[in-house]
Amino acid sequence: MAGKPAAPRPPATPDLKTAADLAPVLPMTADVRDGHLFIGGVDTVKLAAEAGTALYVMDEAHIRNQLSEYVKWTRYHWKDVDVIYAGKAFLSVQMARIVADEGCSLLCASGGELAYALRADFPMERVQVHGNNKTDYELHECLEAGVGRIVVDSLYEMERLAAMAQEAGVEQSILIRITPGIEADTHDFIQTGQEDSKFGFGMAEGLAMRAIKRALELPGIDLAGLHMHIGSQIFALKSFSSAIEVIVHFMEDIRQETGYVVRELDTGGGLGIAYGLPDEPSTIKDYGKVIVDGIKEHVEEHGLPVPKIMVEPGRSIVANAGVTLYTVGSIKQIPNIRTYVAVDGGMSDNIRTSLYDAHYEALIANKADRPREMVVTVAGKHCESGDMVVRDAPLQVPESGDILCVCATGAYCQSMSSNYNKQVRPGVVFVKDGDWRWSVKRETYDDLMRNDVE
Ligand SMILES: Cc1ncc(COP(=O)(O)O)c(C=O)c1O
Repeated sequence: MAGKPAAPRPPATPDLKTAADLAPVLPMTADVRDGHLFIGGVDTVKLAAEAGTALYVMDEAHIRNQLSEYVKWTRYHWKDVDVIYAGKAFLSVQMARIVADEGCSLLCASGGELAYALRADFPMERVQVHGNNKTDYELHECLEAGVGRIVVDSLYEMERLAAMAQEAGVEQSILIRITPGIEADTHDFIQTGQEDSKFGFGMAEGLAMRAIKRALELPGIDLAGLHMHIGSQIFALKSFSSAIEVIVHFMEDIRQETGYVVRELDTGGGLGIAYGLPDEPSTIKDYGKVIVDGIKEHVEEHGLPVPKIMVEPGRSIVANAGVTLYTVGSIKQIPNIRTYVAVDGGMSDNIRTSLYDAHYEALIANKADRPREMVVTVAGKHCESGDMVVRDAPLQVPESGDILCVCATGAYCQSMSSNYNKQVRPGVVFVKDGDWRWSVKRETYDDLMRNDVE
């Protein structure tokens, strides 16, 4: 069973790999025909000419496959599991409809994400709302929409929610977010389960227990269970196992102190994905076993009933389903130092490289069958020296006008995009069975200035 820490990145060399070797990081329908990269049966070079670049391309078959794998391999071990797609990874109205269609639920982390769920007619009882600082306005929106669960992050929020629910004459089901004190094996910025976190209730000094007791006595709210999320891009499944052990122990403490038996346990998201060729993330099948069997094993030890189990994958649903297409512009060779290949996008459409020093694989879509004979740095077009898309990337010999494809950009790229330098955001297209369609149109200059007051 895979589950080791992410491999350190080897020094970049011209690795002579072609698109065929990049299958682990590309969408599942990717193939090469006449030297061109195809995704979902669509020629990405032709697509770039028709839809323009920069462009996010999402493989619908890959997304559906990931959602159904989660459903299959979690319910394989226990009948009552809810797979809740974390919309923060990538959300559009069409994406929300695919999630609903695959029988999954939706996690919204803001009023804006909830507005997408409403626009998509997403079944509200299958919506869960998160956030460490939900505004009054957002809490009202949740109650009005009738969302299934609100994940409560602080006593301040709990008190306000209870008062609002009573005023509205409803009882809102909640989960309480616990930080189990586990440091997941991932980047510091995407660790969330450790004691020193802005999220949720720590277990030290009885904070979490105090929150449980308050939830049990407050009218207007129904405590359905517990939630945790230890971080993102996690390779070592052991991190999940350790957190499960801690939280199930806490479920037993709750029963002993209050008599309350936790009905629902949400273990969050976080399964890592392959960004680079050395990455060997765990499979959804192994993840399902570790989460569900882990919970079952520990609740049995304590004589507790198996709760409804919830998992919240984001990245592992969409990251490898997506690529970004750019057009190569200027190429700057600095002898004995580096070659910069500049593209028509950058930190505005992919902030992850600057933010987390994320690494990606790249290839030239119109030379997909040729070997990657060079090492280059793919630079963005923004006025920041740190505006890089891929540092030290093996690549086919580039020429201006080539279509450059950056792999595994389906998660946390479009959703974290900005208009820096008044750059219009790229559109998002879905590809499927040889056709493409817009899911999010490319912005225009009018879109940029829509709210500008003259
Ligand atoms: C509470 C919560 N659940 C789920 C997720 C999704 O995590 P991932 O995309 O790593 O699966 C996140 C992401 O940060 C999160 O904060």
